[in-house]
Parts: sequence; structure tokens; C-alpha cells
Amino acid sequence: MSQQEHRPADASGSFRIGGDLPVNRLGYGAMQLTGPGVWGPPKDPGEAVRVLRRAVELGVTFIDTADSYGPFVSEQLIHEALHPYPADLVIATKGGFTRSGPDGWQPVGRPEYLRQQTELSLRHLGVERIDLYQLHRIDPKVPLADQIGELRLLQQEGKIRHIGLSEVTVPQIVEARTIADIVSVQNLYNLADRSAEDVLDYAERENLGFIPWFPMATGRLAREGGPLDALVKTYGASPSQLALAWLLRRSPVVLPIPGTSRVAHLEENVRAALVTLDDTAYQELGDTALEP
Ligand SMILES: NC(=O)c1ccc[n+]([C@@H]2O[C@H](COP(=O)([O-])OP(=O)(O)OC[C@H]3O[C@@H](n4cnc5c(N)ncnc54)[C@H](OP(=O)(O)O)[C@@H]3O)[C@@H](O)[C@H]2O)c1
Repeated sequence: MSQQEHRPADASGSFRIGGDLPVNRLGYGAMQLTGPGVWGPPKDPGEAVRVLRRAVELGVTFIDTADSYGPFVSEQLIHEALHPYPADLVIATKGGFTRSGPDGWQPVGRPEYLRQQTELSLRHLGVERIDLYQLHRIDPKVPLADQIGELRLLQQEGKIRHIGLSEVTVPQIVEARTIADIVSVQNLYNLADRSAEDVLDYAERENLGFIPWFPMATGRLAREGGPLDALVKTYGASPSQLALAWLLRRSPVVLPIPGTSRVAHLEENVRAALVTLDDTAYQELGDTALEP
């Protein structure tokens, strides 16, 4: 087996988050490692640990999580599976979205809450500094300067290395950048839903990492019998691989974080890094009419 077959994520190319944290562009999103409604422990905690360890073996160096996944279940599983962390592993977490139960999510951006959640993430991940801390949602009830200002204070105190945003508009990114250095943005984006195209174009121009969430439309694009099935034979790749290879080709700042709770799906997804789409294939996939 070649080195690329052993560590397929290496073939996805590298991006430097904040200019100083290099990651393989194809990462892993750890939200699926929880119970139904992103609440409580997963059905199979052993498989969750295996997924995380296998991701690292396959060359994944960028893992996305959040305090609110579980809450804390995802961060604690990452700690259990991977601590002490490999030197090249970058763990991005988020705060500012509180949980009112399964499937319940409310933005809370009060500075004291963001500080509490950062402290808890430090403890649950078992790190002294968080590589990338993303404001999960902007809280419309709290001035942006207070929310980003608190993250900047935490950064000055050495608890956060870089600050990112999630689900934002271009004007919101521009405003946040007047308060602190912002290095990444995480918005909903996939082949079937490209409503964040303007945010991606802005991120590319400004060399900010663009982290598309729901990269496989939360599984709709990955499943057999799904909308990409018809193209599988033409391109010799699975539906999930086509969806991810298209994202990797879309821009060098795109860092896809496909989620899964199963090792078999993880292995299939990471091998998307070995799929090369030529101009025609990229164009054809992009032109495929998919329901958002
Ligand atoms: N910033 C935000 O507001 C936000 C919101 C949502 C998500 N996120 C982040 O984005 C990451 C990705 O989102 P996501 O996990 O919800 O959606 P996704 O990556 O688009 O899809 C995950 C779904 O696809 C299924 N799947 C994965 N690989 C598959 C394969 N090869 N074949 C068939 N089915 C497959 C998974 O089921 P199995 O478990 O059975 O594989 C799961 O149901 C999350 O983990 C999280 O880190 C961020």
C-alpha cells in the first residue's frame, strides 16, 4: 500500500489556519458522536473512539467540535480517544450556543457565558490553549463588540490561539474583524446548498479558512440511491466522495469536516482526497441540479 493509501487525508492539500497552524484540508466533524438530537452519549461509544483514532491514522489533522455537542460529550470523547494529542492535530471547538434539550439550540453571547464555556472546553479537551475557538452563533441580544471582545481577551490571556465565526454574513465578518483578528468562518455549504457563496468568495479573497458544515447535506448527498448516485459510475467514486471532492476543488481555503459515527463511512469519506475531478467533472457536478 502506498503512503497516500495509508494516509489519504495528506492528499487533500494543506491550509494554514491563521497563517501558522497547518492542517490537511480534509478534516473530520465530531457532532455525530453524540446521542439523538445531538444530546447525550452516542449509541456506540466504542465505535466513536475508534472513529476518532482511525481519523488520525488516515491523516486527518483537523477536527471540529463544540461544547454544545452532547453537551460536552463530543469534546470528552476526543479527549478520551486522542489525548495526549499528536503534535500536528488541530482541534477547533465552538461556544455561544446553549442547549435546551435534544435538538434545542439558543444563542447566548454574554461575555461571562463565553468565558465559562471556554474554561469548560479547556478542561474537557484537556488542553491549555484552544487552537481555534469559533463563536457558534452571534447572539443578536448582545453587542458584537462584547462577544468578540471577550474572545479577544481570552486570546490575550493565552486561552485561545485563533478566533473563528460560524453562520455569519459578510458584513458581520467585516464588523468582527474591526474588533479582533478572525481567521476562519464556518457556514452551511454543500453541492446542494450554496447560499453562502458570497461568504466563501470573501473568505477566499481574504485567505480565511472556510469550513463548510453539512458538507454532505447531513447525509442526503452521501446515501445510496441519493441524488449523486447517477454520477458514481461516470467518475468511479462514491456519492460522499464526489460531494467532498467537489468541495475540495471549489477553493483552496475550503476545509470540509464530514461527520460520521462509523469507521466504514469515515474510511470512504477520507478517501475523497484521492479523487481528482478534472475541469469537466467539476463543472458537471456543479451544474447538477440538486434540491437544497
Ligand atoms: N457551525 C454549525 O452551526 C454546524 C452545524 C452543523 C454541523 N456542524 C459541523 O459540521 C460537521 C458535519 O456536519 P454533519 O455531520 O451534521 O453532516 P454531514 O457531514 O453533511 O453528514 C453526516 C451524515 O452523513 C452520514 N454519512 C457520513 N458518511 C457517509 C457515507 N460515506 N455514506 C452514507 N452516509 C454517510 C452520517 O451518518 P453515519 O453516522 O451513519 O455515517 C451522518 O448522518 C459536524 O460534525 C459539525 O462538526 C456545524
